Amino acid sequence: MLQVNGLNVFYGAIQALNDVTLEVQEGEVVSIIGSNGAGKSTLLRSISGLNRPRTGEIKFLDETIVGVSADKIVDKGISQSPEGRRIFTNMTVRENLQLGAFSRKDNEIESDLEKVMDRFPRVRERLKQSAGTLSGGEQQMLAICRALMSNPKLLLLDEPSMGLAPNLVTEIFSIIKELNDEGTTILLVEQNAHRALEVAHRAYVLETGKVVLSGDGSDLLEDDRVKEYYLGG
Ligand SMILES: Nc1ncnc2c1ncn2[C@@H]1O[C@H](COP(=O)(O)OP(=O)(O)O)[C@@H](O)[C@H]1O
Ligand SMILES: [Mg+2]
Repeated sequence: MLQVNGLNVFYGAIQALNDVTLEVQEGEVVSIIGSNGAGKSTLLRSISGLNRPRTGEIKFLDETIVGVSADKIVDKGISQSPEGRRIFTNMTVRENLQLGAFSRKDNEIESDLEKVMDRFPRVRERLKQSAGTLSGGEQQMLAICRALMSNPKLLLLDEPSMGLAPNLVTEIFSIIKELNDEGTTILLVEQNAHRALEVAHRAYVLETGKVVLSGDGSDLLEDDRVKEYYLGG
């Protein structure tokens, strides 16, 4: 579904991604793990069309998307729940969700909103509230709901568990599993390596902009290097 080939991304003189090659097959959960500053967000932002790679190829459903604008990439079926949620705290929950469907021209938006709300009853209860009144966990769920409102084929999640209490982390990861079971392909970026590898069919380890290791999630959980550096020994 997604192929990234030899991707190089810079911020001025800083190289954030160095010859990154990876792929996501339809139906998979693929996790990218790596420390702070490894380039995880840069990778997702490049796929979303928010960062322009200097060289390399990104193909979605066999079509190149390098140079395609971010809104057109949403139309093609990729949407992202960004790091730090980025919800609009002065707008209502419903308005935030409607923004997720901003580029859709079909008549199914309201019925899709209902479907998304069926899965996230905690968010449904708060539709009329200002999004700024939600707890951190609810805001994270709202960010995922908003991304789902564009009906993505590929959902990009940037650190969905960041800053959440352990019970909410568990809830977020079971939601990720459910969404995937129901057919959404997911590319997940996480510092919480243990959870991210558990939920993943396959995973990649990113270190200072380079893919240093890849494999099945379950194999990486048993890998000595991963254990030492990412799973606390
Ligand atoms: N807007 C930016 N300007 C300059 N450097 C940046 C910017 N965003 C990220 N970087 C640098 O790029 C590298 C990768 O960052 P990032 O993709 O945010 O990593 P991660 O998401 O894995 O923490 C880091 O060295 C970071 O300091
Ligand atoms: Mg990041």
